[in-house]
Amino acid sequence: MDAPGTATPFSTLIRTASHQQHTEAETSTFMGDLLGGRLGVDAYTRYTEQLWFVYRALEDGAESLRSDPAAGPFIRSELMRSTELERDLAHLRGPGWREGLAPLPATAAYAERVAECARTWPAGYIAHHYTRYLGDLSGGQIIRDKAEKTWGFARKGDGVRFYVFEEIANPAAFKRGYRELLDAVDADDLEKQRIIDECKRAFALNTAVFRELGEVFPLSA
Ligand code: HEM
Repeated sequence: MDAPGTATPFSTLIRTASHQQHTEAETSTFMGDLLGGRLGVDAYTRYTEQLWFVYRALEDGAESLRSDPAAGPFIRSELMRSTELERDLAHLRGPGWREGLAPLPATAAYAERVAECARTWPAGYIAHHYTRYLGDLSGGQIIRDKAEKTWGFARKGDGVRFYVFEEIANPAAFKRGYRELLDAVDADDLEKQRIIDECKRAFALNTAVFRELGEVFPLSA
């Protein structure tokens, strides 16, 4: 057992535990093709649609968790992405963007797991919150830059608003604050381990969505 004060911070544990899966997600065929400029805007649109289903589950679930001792501190209105995704989709699909919109099976499974955690296991919801929002604040900015250049969206404009956190002036500082919240999470060691396991599951759920998107948009078709 670690002496008091020397235990590895939870924010470090969760980052280290998901590091390998992060690399897998980052280097998935679909992401590589998308960010390599080898796919059309239809693939980017389809990807954005999947995000909408996931964020709807994350953010529909958020309201009831505001007063939860574990998940409550993480619920911050400046992170919310549903409105931005809807503006992006209106730009990408037109005003009737909702018509015919359906999640891929992997997306439906991902959104269902997020909703289940929000309903029944707030600490597990933190794993999903971390996996998405901290990623969006980090690599999301790389994706935005590529998307603007590849498909000609206005800088930080319609089509890439999902990646623009208007109310977070200093993402690096925000991420530091977020890691402090993780380090102070109201959970014992066993529960922290379960959160880490759920984070790995969250990454796997993302990778499964990329896999299905890769099947819909194969380069060699
Ligand atoms: C091509 C796609 C991606 C790129 C280029 C990318 C890039 C990055 C970079 C550069 C960081 C480090 C930021 C820092 O040290 O402050 C980061 C962090 C992160 N990314 Fe990604 N990423 C990608 C995909 C993903 C995906 C698909 C997920 C999960 C859904 C994800 C989740 C995260 C998380 C949770 C962090 C924060 C790690 C931590 O500091 O605790 N990323 N990403």
